[in-house]
Amino acid sequence: MEESATAIAIEETPQKTKVKPRKELLPPYDGPVLEVRNVHRSFQTGSRIIHVLKGIDMEVKPQQLVMLKGRSGSGKTTLLNMLGGLDQPSSGEILFSGQPLQDWGDQRRTALRRREIGFIFQAYALMPLLSAWENVELSLRMADVPRSEWKDRVDHCLDLVGLSKRVKHRPFEMSGGEQQRVAIAKAIAHRPRLLLADEPTAELDSKMGAQVMAVFRNIIEVEQVTICMTTHDPTILEVADHVYEMADGRFLT
Ligand SMILES: Nc1ncnc2c1ncn2[C@@H]1O[C@H](COP(=O)(O)OP(=O)(O)OP(=O)(O)O)[C@@H](O)[C@H]1O
Ligand SMILES: [Mg+2]
Repeated sequence: MEESATAIAIEETPQKTKVKPRKELLPPYDGPVLEVRNVHRSFQTGSRIIHVLKGIDMEVKPQQLVMLKGRSGSGKTTLLNMLGGLDQPSSGEILFSGQPLQDWGDQRRTALRRREIGFIFQAYALMPLLSAWENVELSLRMADVPRSEWKDRVDHCLDLVGLSKRVKHRPFEMSGGEQQRVAIAKAIAHRPRLLLADEPTAELDSKMGAQVMAVFRNIIEVEQVTICMTTHDPTILEVADHVYEMADGRFLT
C-alpha cells in the first residue's frame, strides 16, 4: 500500500549510506523522567521585567500522563517549553532522566531534544503536500534512525494511532482528529521517552478529543512514553494520572 513512498525513499539515497549506531545520550536512571526544582522564568520587554514562572516544583514519573491546567496567561506554555529544553529557566533546575539540562551545552541539549522528546501542538504541524505516511517518515529521516527501520516503524506508528487505512491521505483529506493523530504518530516515531503536548485537543470536538486521549493512553502502554500536556477541558482532565493547576506562575496545591 505504501510502495510509492518507499520507492522514492530508496531512490533518493545511495545504497552505500551507512547508518551510525545510535549513541546513548543518557545513562540508565530509575527515577522520574522530569524533576523540576524551584524554577523561575522572567522576560524582559523593553524596560519592564515580567515574572512569569514563580517557583515551580514538579515531578513526572515514567509512563505517567500529567496535565497542566490554568487560566490563559498563567504560564503553561512557558513551562512546557522549558520542560522540552526549548527555553531555559532564569533560575532553578530541571532534571531530565536525572541529568541537569542547564549544565549541558547547546549542542548536547539540542541532540537530547531531537532524540528523546516529541512535541505536539494545538495546530497539527503537518507538511501539507505529504501523505500521512510520508509525514511520519519525514520525522524518521530527520532523526538518527537507521533507514532499514523506517518502513516498519511508520506502519507501526500509524497503526498505533488507528490510521492504517489513511496512510495515503494528505492533511487536507483528513479530519482534524485524524490530522492530530498523524501528528502524534510523527511525534513518537523516533521513540522519544517524553511527549509534550500543548493543548492537543483544543481544536477538536469532544469525540475526537476523546480519541486522541485514548491514543495517548495506548502509546503510554505500548511505547512506554511519558506524556505532559496542557488542557482547559474538564473531561480531558479526568484521564490524567496527575493534574497540576497553575495560577499566576505558581501551582495551587
Ligand atoms: N517571550 C516572552 N516575552 C514576554 N512575555 C512572555 C513571553 N512568553 C510568555 N510571556 C508572558 O507570560 C505569560 C504566560 O504565557 P503562557 O503562554 O505561558 O500562558 P498560557 O498559560 O500558556 O496561556 P494560554 O492558556 O493562553 O495558552 C503571559 O503573560 C505572556 O504574555
Ligand atoms: Mg499556552
